[in-house]
Amino acid sequence: MEKILDAISREVVNAFQDNGYDGKYGKVTLSNRPDLCEYQCNGAMAAAKEYKCAPFMISDKVADSLKDNPMFEAVDSVKPGFLNLKLHPGYLAGYLQEMAEDSERLGCTKCENPRTIMIDYGGPNVAKPLHVGHLRSAIIGESVKRIGKFMGHTMIGDVHLGDWGLQMGLIITELKERKPELIYFKEDYEGEYPQEAPFTIGELEEIYPMASAKSKEDDDYKEMAMQATYELQHGRKGYQALLGHILDVSVSDLKRNYENLNVSFELWKGESDAQPFIPDMVQKMKDDGYAHISEGALVVDVKEESDTKEVPPCMILKSDGASLYNTTDLATIVWRMRDYQPDEIIYVVDKRQELYFTQVFRCARKTGLVKPETELKFLGFGTMNGKDGKPFKTREGGVMRLEYLVDEINEEMYKKITDNHTVEEEEGRKTAKMVALSAIKYGDLSNQASKDYIFDVDRFTSFEGNTGPYILYTIVRIKSILKKYQAKKSLPEMAKILPAQSQSEKALMLEISKFNSMMESAFADTAPHKVCAYIYDLSNAFNHFYHETKILAEQDEMVQAGYICLLELTRRALEICIDVLGFEAPERM
Ligand code: ARG
Repeated sequence: MEKILDAISREVVNAFQDNGYDGKYGKVTLSNRPDLCEYQCNGAMAAAKEYKCAPFMISDKVADSLKDNPMFEAVDSVKPGFLNLKLHPGYLAGYLQEMAEDSERLGCTKCENPRTIMIDYGGPNVAKPLHVGHLRSAIIGESVKRIGKFMGHTMIGDVHLGDWGLQMGLIITELKERKPELIYFKEDYEGEYPQEAPFTIGELEEIYPMASAKSKEDDDYKEMAMQATYELQHGRKGYQALLGHILDVSVSDLKRNYENLNVSFELWKGESDAQPFIPDMVQKMKDDGYAHISEGALVVDVKEESDTKEVPPCMILKSDGASLYNTTDLATIVWRMRDYQPDEIIYVVDKRQELYFTQVFRCARKTGLVKPETELKFLGFGTMNGKDGKPFKTREGGVMRLEYLVDEINEEMYKKITDNHTVEEEEGRKTAKMVALSAIKYGDLSNQASKDYIFDVDRFTSFEGNTGPYILYTIVRIKSILKKYQAKKSLPEMAKILPAQSQSEKALMLEISKFNSMMESAFADTAPHKVCAYIYDLSNAFNHFYHETKILAEQDEMVQAGYICLLELTRRALEICIDVLGFEAPERM
């Protein structure tokens, strides 16, 4: 369906042309003075220079041409030469009715050229519990993915597990200290290894931090861990079997955690999956003359003329021949291109890794790992801070485990929900979980991703203001009115959205009509915050309309049915939006 702004612009462009002016001056924008008009066109101001006349001479003529146009209720030419536009309620109602008839997509046309877009998000590290630092990547990545899917693209989410590196050697070393008798450590063993892991997730989570702490104090221990890492990476069977167990145990725990966040991945690939691609990739970089030795290390220069800050060379192999985080990310691009031929890869990672990704992207481009037209995009996010403005910590000052944070907010929400009315324990818990998730996700997504934000539990869980619970509350309110209506009557066959009868109704309709253009731009700018802004404005407009309008007490059947259609559309718009943000609304709350 055509975007409403385009439809309006088209009429205004025609009017400019009918009067002998260039159509380019007819571009319409949303009004920045909503008290005066709904849309505006400032083109006459610019056109006046070309046609050497007073701007209002042009805007007067254009306004005159538009005055009988059924799209508008009012077209005012205002000195010095602005065009102030108000939509005709009949036209607006017709536009919304067309949206409503397309109940799946509400008139938001799928993109013409669907692309394959891989999205690298989550980025958890095996054997380390998820902490709040991983929260943003999961929340933002999931939403960007869903928005892309809604627009008709093939979106492939890859969790890109951190499963390669010293942490594995540390775990193996600590395990060996504790249970040296395990078959995995027997060097000349040739047989099969047990199916069952020799540890639980609880043990694993306790082993890693302890090993990590020990390695910082004890050089010999660290040496052992490095040796174990080396042997693991060079094919020692027992260690690889252990890695398999570590992965299984860890991944099933991670999946459970992500599920609680309503986050899921198409691919569960990890850094280790990239390793087999390293030797050939490195060889090719050397053969093609891109990689050279600098201070013993193998590097690819990636600086460019126009750089204002220094971009250091991308290191491919350390002087001892070991690969790095870089190498893994580059080799990951190799298999992604080979197996999925993505048109674009988006990385949702902490913005402090921006320079690093600049190096990786340039290196991938220069050495031909991607096609010239493949887009590599870094979507860096800011830090989640506590109320003190410093990175979010537990009360004791430690790193907050994601699970505990979610539990805490679930609990808080449960208290709020059961505070002033009685609900069954089970339903209450379920509702609390849904509302809590909306609080966490909306609190994050309503900010521009690149900015830091303050995680304020009290504010995020509030039912008032720009919060997830407020949005859900609005949806639940609409659902409850619809249910009450349906309990008494069924919608007459001829029911449709009718021209607005009040200011608040029209304001609501104007908000709804922005749906398709908002979704397109949220996708184009990888900006879930635009979806949040839309549903916040929409919720406000709805609640205002609701307070001023007697819906269930309306006497005129057709008018009432028109309201119901409008409510249904509002509900649908809100629900599509929260779905792409990655949360759901309960039936009651
Ligand atoms: N595992 C990393 C971390 O915890 C994030 C991975 C980001 N993605 C990537 N392709 N490098 O910091």
